[in-house]
Amino acid sequence: MQQIEIDKKYIEEVYNLNKNCDYLKYTIMTMGCQLNENDSEKISGMLEEMNYKYTDNFEDADLIVFNTCCVRENAEEKLFGKIGEVKNLKENKNVILAIGGCMMQEKNMVEKIKKSYPYVDIVFGTHTIHKLPEDIFRVLSERNKVRDIIDIDGDIYEGMPIKRNSSYKASVTIMYGCNNFCSYCIVPYVRGRERSRDPERILEEIRMLAKEGYKEITLLGQNVNSYKGDDKIKNFAELLDEVCKIDGIEFVNFISPHPKDFTDDVIEVIAKNPKVTRIIHLPLQSGSTKVLKEMNRKYTKEQFIERANKIKKMCPDVVFSTDIIVGYAGETEEDFEDTLDVVRQINFEQIYMFIYSIREGTVGAKREDQVPEDIKHARFDRLKELYESRVDENNEKYIGTCQKILIEGLSKNNPNTYTGRTNTNKVVIFDKDGDYKPGDIINCKITEAHKWYLKGEKVN
Ligand code: SAH
Ligand code: SF4
Ligand code: F3S
Repeated sequence: MQQIEIDKKYIEEVYNLNKNCDYLKYTIMTMGCQLNENDSEKISGMLEEMNYKYTDNFEDADLIVFNTCCVRENAEEKLFGKIGEVKNLKENKNVILAIGGCMMQEKNMVEKIKKSYPYVDIVFGTHTIHKLPEDIFRVLSERNKVRDIIDIDGDIYEGMPIKRNSSYKASVTIMYGCNNFCSYCIVPYVRGRERSRDPERILEEIRMLAKEGYKEITLLGQNVNSYKGDDKIKNFAELLDEVCKIDGIEFVNFISPHPKDFTDDVIEVIAKNPKVTRIIHLPLQSGSTKVLKEMNRKYTKEQFIERANKIKKMCPDVVFSTDIIVGYAGETEEDFEDTLDVVRQINFEQIYMFIYSIREGTVGAKREDQVPEDIKHARFDRLKELYESRVDENNEKYIGTCQKILIEGLSKNNPNTYTGRTNTNKVVIFDKDGDYKPGDIINCKITEAHKWYLKGEKVN
């Protein structure tokens, strides 16, 4: 029997154990990135088929899942706080407690849970998500503690159930793992090597989503532009082009591309397909060529700027977002000035800023020239100040333009207005002058710019 059939058999087994219980509930807390989010949707899909219904209230749950992240240190404190909080529930009620995700691929973390939190029932890794039904079966039928983690790269499992968080936008994982080993980053150690999904399977999934009424697709992977297809659809550029051809899909995003692999063919596909997002994520990490080399990023400051300029030249309506790490080991004041210089030159519309966090097991962790905490924080504040000084100007340039808006729903704070997003991910608020549902698309003329949103008027 193939593994996928075994997994499905266990879904059925657990369903049989649960089928006479009317109100079994699960809750899931997702602590990581969009890939982690997408894994949670798969976990929810399996749980629903085993007769669990979703609740956002921990007290009501019969099964609690934490889907962890370990990219930065604060994630650990947060997880251990949460496990401590649910201890009472575990004691008072026979809740099943399952912890999965990237942090569970770290041996010392699994050891710590075993020692300090022995009441945790299931620990599963990123390569064994599909085996969760079997783990639950063993807990229910044998009252065993289960630790189901493999170190080697998992296979790709197609056709597992999925319960999506939204009815109009969906994420589709196109590749797993990462081969880049940036020296600060733990992801390649916990997610394994790069494995690409079969292009036809990806397109089939997106065609189905289009039929179900989905309008926005985000292609996911740690390094999407190193995607490898088959003889027909060979690489990321060709896959992106095919996705854009699917009727019904109106917005296509992808995250994350690596600047070193942002080849001209990808830029050409973006240029000719207006469906592709007009906010391109180009993760800079540092603006210093010296630091970039030490980070193993494989591009220089000049090459990064050249790529951004080339994209801008071929697709003039594109804006950029980026990730920046402040205070990597050995970063001098001059290196940091280089980062500020790139930020001034490229004028990113969105910057995700991080203070360097030492991750055991990575090359960066072994360095002795770590930047003191106070300097890291001071640099972070300076970067933030520079970024925020540009926000007004960046927003004001939208005034008077006409934007295609994907409606998200009525505004939370004001039911007389709707909220939507542009294809550059800007929030737009407009007055309610008719009935729309999430996922509807309209054109808006932007009339006002505020710090965190734009105001618009519907045009025909
Ligand atoms: N594969 C993606 C990023 C995954 S992690 C990419 O290459 O763009 C998301 C972001 O977290 C990274 O881009 C980086 O900016 C940040 N990050 C990763 N490791 C970090 C660390 N040890 N300390 C601080 N930030 C880190
Ligand atoms: Fe981490 Fe670099 Fe891989 Fe991104 S490309 S996941 S930053 S190692
Ligand atoms: Fe975190 Fe894993 Fe994503 S470490 S950032 S959840 S790939």
